[in-house]
Amino acid sequence: MQPILSDGYSIYFNSDSYIKMNEYLLEHKPTKLFILVDQNTHELCYPKFIQLLEITATIEVIEIEAGEKHKNIETCISLWNILTELGADRKSLMINLGGGVITDMGGFVASTFKRGIKFINIPTTLLSMVDASAGGKTGVDLGVLKNQIGLFSNPEMVLIDSKYLTTISEREIRSGMAEIIKYGLTYDVKVWDESKVFNSLENIDIDSLIHRSISIKNEVVIKDPKENGVRKILNFGHTLGHAIESYHLESKDKENLTHGEAIAIGMITETYISSKLYNFPKEILEEIKGKIVSLFGKVQIEQTDYAPIIDLLKHDKKNTNGNVNFVLLSNLEKVKFDCQVSEDLIIESLDYYQS
Ligand code: GLY
Repeated sequence: MQPILSDGYSIYFNSDSYIKMNEYLLEHKPTKLFILVDQNTHELCYPKFIQLLEITATIEVIEIEAGEKHKNIETCISLWNILTELGADRKSLMINLGGGVITDMGGFVASTFKRGIKFINIPTTLLSMVDASAGGKTGVDLGVLKNQIGLFSNPEMVLIDSKYLTTISEREIRSGMAEIIKYGLTYDVKVWDESKVFNSLENIDIDSLIHRSISIKNEVVIKDPKENGVRKILNFGHTLGHAIESYHLESKDKENLTHGEAIAIGMITETYISSKLYNFPKEILEEIKGKIVSLFGKVQIEQTDYAPIIDLLKHDKKNTNGNVNFVLLSNLEKVKFDCQVSEDLIIESLDYYQS
């Protein structure tokens, strides 16, 4: 598969990616290599990865606990301490081997340690492959508020090996599919058409969907790396989606949602709002709702949940002057951003999701 050239780094695919990584290591000769894993990727991905790594420098493996609840500044402090104790210097290299938590947080820790050491992302979940690992966003959550602390910082390269997808659950595969659906609805209807037939990895060409998704993201990010304008379209479904995800993280009586499950609800509700404000076609709205609910099921959102969810919207990173800014669609591939939406319409969209 063709590499994708991004802003000063490349994204390589499958077996080719390990050749490129070893060439990079030979050329840059890092003093030490720090491989960040969680207990799952340590057990299931690291043994394969280490066999393909050709380097004489010392390798240190740093394991953190898996899960979004560890994506916080306390974990970063312990990682900065470990790097210090293990003698990391500015020519050390960090390799982030894992899902979105590992690539987001590993990128942030590397970019801030001694004012920045270099890092490579090797995403092992579909979500991280098609979204988190490329594009330069790094960071951690602040309490339940998603990705509130962080910086834009590009990796040296991204290696995509779809074989790692055999190590994750179907639920995590679906989580990544939500982001692929987002690219389909906002940017390339062919991707939406392919997503519609998805019910497991067996009945789609996942390598080509991953490649197309990353290409789309890359085209957008190159135009607007710091999200001043068009990059906001990548947040379709994420305004209500992030608020619902945070609400489930903070509510003791609610089961945590995967990122994709929350974004899926966000895409239905935000398409509904689009139909009211921008005449998004009703029959496509129904089709989107049907497909997404069949893939992700229906999450019970009670009327008593609405107020706290709406309250969480005020922390959305796209907000300006106290206004919540939504990304909406006037049709497939026709995106509008910085759209303001009344509270009544937000409530109506949550009712529509439940109906
Ligand atoms: N996840 C959206 C972005 O990277 O802009």
